[in-house]
Amino acid sequence: EKGTYPHFMLKEIDEQPFVMRKIIQEYQDEHDDIKLDEDIRKAMKECDRVYIIAAGTSYHAGLIGKEFLEKIAEVPTEVHVASEFSYNFPLLSEKPLFVFISQSGETADLRSVLVETNKLGHPALTITNVPGSTLSRESNYTMHLHAGPEIAVASTKAYTAQMAVLAILAVDTARAKGLTLDFDPMKELGIVSSAMEALCDQKELFDQIARDYLSTTRNCFFIGRGLDYYVGLEGALKLKEISYIQAEGFAGGELKHGTIALIEDGTPVIALATQEHVNSSIRSNVQEVITRGANDCIISLEGLDREGDAFVIPKVHSLLTPLVSVLPLQLISYYAALHRDCDVDKPRNLAKSVTVE
Ligand code: F6R
Repeated sequence: EKGTYPHFMLKEIDEQPFVMRKIIQEYQDEHDDIKLDEDIRKAMKECDRVYIIAAGTSYHAGLIGKEFLEKIAEVPTEVHVASEFSYNFPLLSEKPLFVFISQSGETADLRSVLVETNKLGHPALTITNVPGSTLSRESNYTMHLHAGPEIAVASTKAYTAQMAVLAILAVDTARAKGLTLDFDPMKELGIVSSAMEALCDQKELFDQIARDYLSTTRNCFFIGRGLDYYVGLEGALKLKEISYIQAEGFAGGELKHGTIALIEDGTPVIALATQEHVNSSIRSNVQEVITRGANDCIISLEGLDREGDAFVIPKVHSLLTPLVSVLPLQLISYYAALHRDCDVDKPRNLAKSVTVE
């Protein structure tokens, strides 16, 4: 039920701080260690490469998951769009582990890959919001997102839950491998939860940004580097699917290789600047688009912010910024759709669960 909310999407955006706390609870044991199926731990430790398979928003969570698995757990990881992978298997490593990320657990494109990998005898872990779902039943292991039912077609809380669960999985694997880490995932996710809450309390600001930048525009670009680039891809998907604004996410460094030709007077460019090691380069990219007339909207991280930024997100661990920086993008998309009289929860041509290939 929506309760007092006008739309499920807004309710689900608002639930994200609670989902984080629920995940912390569910994945923590009484000794404050990570609670995880021993078989999953073993599968993660034994594999020589993880192949993440997903679609849409879940694919975008997978891109962030790769960073977690490689940076935290030192597990080589590839991320693939399921519909492409199913007819174009790459050369596989000797001991692959397949990780299927799916909110619904019913996406046909993923299922067709799973059928193949099962035939080949490779182990599969499904990360899903629906533990009894087809993908969950047909794979060896399941990790539950604990996000609660997601009703709006545009995925929000499942995306942040997917990233949180992937971070926990990465830390657990790192510990199982005996790597030294100064990263307490539960503490960091607690900080993320509070930061999310602070953002949810500032909705008028995002409503205003949507009004100022997106009420009449035909297109919108998202730019970022590293993790911010991946979050930009998700921001663009959210915006296009519910507001029907042509939106694209680009790596900051790729602008000059073509995309910058599209910038004209007034083109909205939403830039994410949450990563210290690329802060000055993304700032120069913003300057480049401003010079061509872009209407810039910079979302930065506390400590990396500069005068004129449209919004500064509270400080969280540098690897976990996507869990927080996506909220402004979800909210901006929501309000843009609202201002343009779109059907927020049920955008045209889309289904919540895509059970056909
Ligand atoms: C976008 C969206 C879709 C889904 C995609 C995968 O907001 O909801 O892109 O993410 O169809 O769905 P699941 O995660 O259920 O496999």
